[in-house]
Amino acid sequence: MARISPVFLIFGILSVIFGSCRADLVKVTTSGLIRGFMSTYNGVEVEKYLGVPYATPPTGPLRLRNPVPHPEWDGIRNATANGPDCPDARHTVWDEDCLYANVYVPRKTPDEILSAMVYIHGGGFQHKTTTADPTAFAATGNVIVVAINYRTNVFGFFSTGDDAAPGNYGLMDQRAAIVWTKDNIAAFGGNPHKITIYGRSAGGESVGFQQLAPLNNGLYLRAISGSAVAITPGILTKRPSETSTYLVELLNCTTDNKLDEVECLRSVSTRDLLTYALQTPPASDSIYTWLPVVDGTFLPDTPENLLRSGVLENRDYLMGNVNSEGSVAGSATYQAATSVESFVSTARSKLFTTFPDNLENVVEATKYAYCYDINNNVSPNLPARYVDFYGEWRFVASTVLTADIYAKLGHNTYFFYFTHRPSYSTRDDFIGCAHGEEKFFLFGLTRDVTDDEMELSTNTMTYFANFVRSGNPNLPDPVPVEWPRYNTTDRPYLELDVNMTSQNVKTNLLPSQMFFWNEVIPSINSVGIPSGMVEESTSLAPLRTTSSPEEAEDGPSAGTNFAELLRSTQIVMYTMLGVSILLLLLLIILAFVYQQGLTKVNKNIEKTMDHNAMS
Ligand SMILES: *[C@@H]1O[C@H](CO)[C@@H](O)[C@H](O)[C@H]1NC(C)=O
Ligand SMILES: *[C@@H]1O[C@H](CO)[C@@H](O)[C@H](O)[C@H]1NC(C)=O
Ligand SMILES: *[C@@H]1O[C@H](CO)[C@@H](O)[C@H](O)[C@H]1NC(C)=O
Ligand SMILES: *[C@@H]1O[C@H](CO)[C@@H](O)[C@H](O)[C@H]1NC(C)=O
Repeated sequence: MARISPVFLIFGILSVIFGSCRADLVKVTTSGLIRGFMSTYNGVEVEKYLGVPYATPPTGPLRLRNPVPHPEWDGIRNATANGPDCPDARHTVWDEDCLYANVYVPRKTPDEILSAMVYIHGGGFQHKTTTADPTAFAATGNVIVVAINYRTNVFGFFSTGDDAAPGNYGLMDQRAAIVWTKDNIAAFGGNPHKITIYGRSAGGESVGFQQLAPLNNGLYLRAISGSAVAITPGILTKRPSETSTYLVELLNCTTDNKLDEVECLRSVSTRDLLTYALQTPPASDSIYTWLPVVDGTFLPDTPENLLRSGVLENRDYLMGNVNSEGSVAGSATYQAATSVESFVSTARSKLFTTFPDNLENVVEATKYAYCYDINNNVSPNLPARYVDFYGEWRFVASTVLTADIYAKLGHNTYFFYFTHRPSYSTRDDFIGCAHGEEKFFLFGLTRDVTDDEMELSTNTMTYFANFVRSGNPNLPDPVPVEWPRYNTTDRPYLELDVNMTSQNVKTNLLPSQMFFWNEVIPSINSVGIPSGMVEESTSLAPLRTTSSPEEAEDGPSAGTNFAELLRSTQIVMYTMLGVSILLLLLLIILAFVYQQGLTKVNKNIEKTMDHNAMS
C-alpha cells in the first residue's frame, strides 16, 4: 500500500487553497503529484491528465506476472502526454512499460462530485484499437473518464495453463486500473463509490469478465458492454499450453521445468518475444493465439458456469449491439461468401471453436438457416447473409442471452441496438452500422457528419452518461425518448438512430434468430441431431414464420430458413418431451409408492410409540 507523504499532503492542501488557478491542475495521487493541463470542448473546460502510471512497468522480472502498484515518485510528474502503447502488431512505436491511464475531468459544475467511467479499449485482446478521445463524452455527459491501456497479445495473455504462468495479466491490468481509479478519483473531484466500467468489442468482453470475477466484489458500481460480453464465442482458450509450448520452443527456452521456461521468456527482448508470438499459430480450439483463460483465481470457472451459478454481484448493467456486427475487421471474410460452399467453409472455420463436438450438425443447421430463403432458393445476397450470420451468432445472441440472465437475477439491465449507418460509410450498401462504428458517436466524431448525426452523437452520449451517473439512462439530463428497463418477458430495447421518436423503443430483438442461437443450437449441440434429419427436413414444405420489423430492415437478405430448422428441432424436442413425460410419470409413480411406504412406516412408528407410551 502506498503511503501519502506529508509533502504531498501540503501540496494538495495548497492546490485546494489556490482554487482554480494553474496549481489546481496539480493532483495528489497515491504514488505522487501529477500536473495536467486544461482544454475546452464546446465551451466546457476539461482538465486532462495524460500518461498517469497505474502500475509498476511490467518489464524484466515483472513480465508475464500480475501487475503491482506503482512506487512513489518525488516532485511533480508531468501528465501532459499519452503513455506508450503496449507492444502489438498494430503499432510500430511501443514499449512494454505501458500501464498508463488518461484522466479527463469536465469542469461544467465545479463543485459537483462527479461519477467516473473507466474505459477499456477493444482489439480482440491482440492489439489496441484506434485511440478514441473521450473529451467530448466527458464534457457532454459531465462524467470523469479514465481511459486505460492494458497488456495485450503474448504480454497480456501468455499462459502455460498452470501456476508457472497462469495468464490473464491483461485482465488483471484492467482490474488494477479500476482499483487505481477507486483509490484516486476523489483527488480529481470524483466519487469513488460511483465508478462504471465501459468497454466495447474485446473491451465489452473484458467488462463481462470483470463482472464475473469474485475479486471485484465491492470494487465498482456499474458496467457497460458494447457489442460483446463474457460469453461471446471464441474469446477464451481451453488449451493455452499448445501455444505456450510452441512459443517456448521457437525461442529455444525449452527445459524440463516450466518455471525455468517462463523465466527464460522474461529475458528475451521485447521485439523477439512479440515477433515470435505473432508467428505462433492459435491453439486448436481458437481463432486467436493469445486469449484469456479460466485461471482458477480471477476467473474461477467458465463464464457460462459463473453466469449460471447466479452468484453475481448486483450491479446495473447496460449492454447492446450494432446492427451489422458481422462486418468486422475488414470486409474480406463476408465477401468470400459468394457461394453456399464458400459460405459454409468460412462459417465452419469460425464455428469450430464453439461447437467442437457437434460441428457438422451446427454448420448444417447454419447453412439452412442463412443460405436459403423460405422457398429453398439460395439467397440472392450471400455476403449479406454472412454478415447476418456472423453478427447474430457471435455478438447479438450472446449479448441478448447475457441481458436475459442478468435481468432474470433482478439486476437493473438496459439494452441498446445501434442501427445508424454513418453518412460517410463506404461499405457495401447492405451494411448498417459496422462493428466498431458506434464508437465515434460516443467518443467524438472525427469526420464531417450531418446535423442529425451530430444530434445522435449527443443523444448517445447523454444516455450513456446518465446511466453512469444514476444507473438510469433517462436521468438526470433530458433525453429524447424514455429507454425502458430490460425484462425477459418483452425484451424491450432502445434503437439508437437519428431522429429519435417513441418508435425507437422496441421489443424482442431478432426473435427467430435469437431462438435459433440461444435455444435451438444449444439443444442440437447437447442432444445431437440423428444423422440425415436436417437433410430430410428440408424436403418438407416450409412453414411460414412471421419476420420481425428488424429482419425486414436488415437489408436485401431474402428471409431465412428458420422454419425448416424449427421443424427439425421440433422433432428432437418432441422426442425429448416424450422421454421427459415418461420420466415424469415414473417419478410420480415412484413418489406415490414412496409416500405409501412412508405412510406405512409412519403408522408403524405411531403404533410402536403408542405401544411404548402404553407400556
Ligand atoms: C514539466 O513541464 C514543465 C512545463 O513544460 C517543465 O518546465 C518541466 O521541466 C517539466 N518537468 C519534468 C519533470 O519533465
Ligand atoms: C534457436 O536455435 C536455433 C538452432 O540453434 C537457431 O537457428 C535459432 O535462431 C534460435 N532461435 C532464437 C530465437 O534464438
Ligand atoms: C417488460 O417491459 C415492457 C416494455 O417496457 C413493459 O410493458 C412490461 O410491463 C415489462 N414487464 C415486466 C414483467 O416488467
Ligand atoms: C431526420 O430528420 C431530418 C429533419 O426532419 C430529415 O431531413 C432527415 O431526412 C431525417 N433522417 C432520417 C434518416 O429519417
